Amino acid sequence: MPPLLIAFDGPAASGKGTLASVIAADYGLPFLDTGLLYRAVGHVARERDIDLEDAQALGEAARFIHPTLLEDDALRGREAGEWASRVAAIPEVRAALKQFQIDFAHQASGAVLDGRDIGTVIAPDAQVKLFVTADPETRARRRFLQLVKVNSALTFEDVLSDIRIRDERDSSRSSAPLEMARDAVLLDTTNLDIEAAIEAARSIVKARR
Ligand code: C5P
Repeated sequence: MPPLLIAFDGPAASGKGTLASVIAADYGLPFLDTGLLYRAVGHVARERDIDLEDAQALGEAARFIHPTLLEDDALRGREAGEWASRVAAIPEVRAALKQFQIDFAHQASGAVLDGRDIGTVIAPDAQVKLFVTADPETRARRRFLQLVKVNSALTFEDVLSDIRIRDERDSSRSSAPLEMARDAVLLDTTNLDIEAAIEAARSIVKARR
């Protein structure tokens, strides 16, 4: 059997990251959360005060993103997500991060990746593609419950507004927008708890691999 390559795409807080990591563990496959790459670029841009209009400088910063940078807890916060989606719209940034993701996806062991353009751009050849979604209010509620633990001043409305802005920016950009691959399976987790979503993802992978 060829190495198993599985792509998870979908909007922010849809549950794709959790599902992708469970499936990676099930099959003993390496896993890459590609959102962290864009979060790391956003973080570096902020720290170095790089102008968001300066596509060349942002592309240059993206070329120096190293996997060890991805372990920084600061990348998981609310602002990091916002900055990530801004830099992710810049073609120079996407181009600089592309080959690393393609190589990760096509290593001999197989792999699981999650992001926005895995099934469409990074690994159109993936054997299994899932597009994981949920309605914006459900995604905002999930994200709010995570983020409020570290920021008690945060409101649900703040998070819902972030999610709507990010959905709009990620779907409307011209460079690799968030869209479902034609051969992806849609998994809507709006009415599923985490166990049910995991079971649904497992049966999709089993049926398709
Ligand atoms: O998935 P996560 O919320 O960590 O992603 C942060 C941002 O990075 C997204 O809003 C999106 O703009 C960008 N991203 C992307 N392509 C990917 C992964 C993430 O454009 N493959």
